[in-house]
Amino acid sequence: MRARRLLRDLAQVATPAGDGAPLRGAALGDVTVLEEAYVLWDGDRIDAVGRMADLPVLADDVEEVDGRGLCAIPGLVDCHTHAAFGGDRVEEFALRAAGAGYEELHARGGGILSTVRATRAAGADGLRAAVGRHARWMLAHGTTTFEGKSGYGLDRDTELASLRAIRDAGGIPTWLGAHAVPPEFENADAYLDFALAEVLPDAAQIAEAADVFLERGAFDAVQARRYLEACRDAGLALRLHGDQFTEQGAIPLAVELGARSVDHLEATGEDGVRALAASGVVGVLLPASALFLGRPMPPGRALVDAGAAVALATDFNPGSAFCESLPLVCSLAATQLRLSPAEALAACTVNAAHVLGRPDRGRLARGYRADVALLDAPDWRYLAYHLGGDVVARTIVGGELR
Ligand code: NIG
Ligand code: FE
Repeated sequence: MRARRLLRDLAQVATPAGDGAPLRGAALGDVTVLEEAYVLWDGDRIDAVGRMADLPVLADDVEEVDGRGLCAIPGLVDCHTHAAFGGDRVEEFALRAAGAGYEELHARGGGILSTVRATRAAGADGLRAAVGRHARWMLAHGTTTFEGKSGYGLDRDTELASLRAIRDAGGIPTWLGAHAVPPEFENADAYLDFALAEVLPDAAQIAEAADVFLERGAFDAVQARRYLEACRDAGLALRLHGDQFTEQGAIPLAVELGARSVDHLEATGEDGVRALAASGVVGVLLPASALFLGRPMPPGRALVDAGAAVALATDFNPGSAFCESLPLVCSLAATQLRLSPAEALAACTVNAAHVLGRPDRGRLARGYRADVALLDAPDWRYLAYHLGGDVVARTIVGGELR
């Protein structure tokens, strides 16, 4: 029997206003806040959200959950993680702290390629355990929907095992088949010949989207186009890692191919900001990655002011952002990107859900999936305000208390 539950006496319920996605401009910062409020759901769908004073008389089979002292916001949506990896990069982290450069370590066969070695060694069971552990970390920080990329296998078996591990942990899999060129291939073109012929047909059965690292030292714009067009023809939605260190044409390519998003944008200049704002492509901002690498922040305020649709994500991975906390990312958005707490909330709920093709998530409103993050706070803006704090008290996923 489906459970009807009432989360009552909440200090506040806060949700991005309106309907539809992605939000941009003034709508991005429009949050509806109800004081002394409730959320009522039936099975995995929200029935009603309102003020306690307006609560209708309910049948006595409704299970009540005490929300006193808590604020409810939509379950957070992390639309960009690299959750499928073996090993760690703590040695590299210490070397970088002592002055080594991220791109320099990568060029010497460390960086991403060292995680490729560890991920291949982990095997399917090791990957399954790793993604499960990472998904629990995310949930503890309020993330009720996550995307996970492959991209540390770069051989057929490990790429497919990564995608399955993400799917089986409840994540939304993205095939990052073009993340780096593995050492057994002469060059990027030879690797892409293999990946598109031998991996794509099966990857497309598991993944929902494809992603490429368009950057010097990784894949150039011609190679990225070839990869993305083949993936699009196989039915996958398109994403790009673009403008992380240098502008290599990621935004024009994303716009031309109708990609869901371009992610990173730390190096995006004024023309890129304008082009993205004039398009339907979402700019995914990853300030934890910029912070972790000591890089310039992406131009978040300029993008929002120009009218671009933006999302926020962690970029959780072992090398450039060992951080699974979207609340921390919201703090960085407010302090480093100059987004308001309201803009940050919409960016990691309804807009992130749009990037993932999940229009039923990201708001607390009738008909949406009953995914909730409960904040241990008197005001929902503690989400961004409590820097590094333990702000998420508990979560509700598909109507179930976790
Ligand atoms: O999004 N930039 C490319 N890929 C990842 C980092 C991967 C790694 O360092 O392991 C990113 O930052
Ligand atoms: Fe990434």
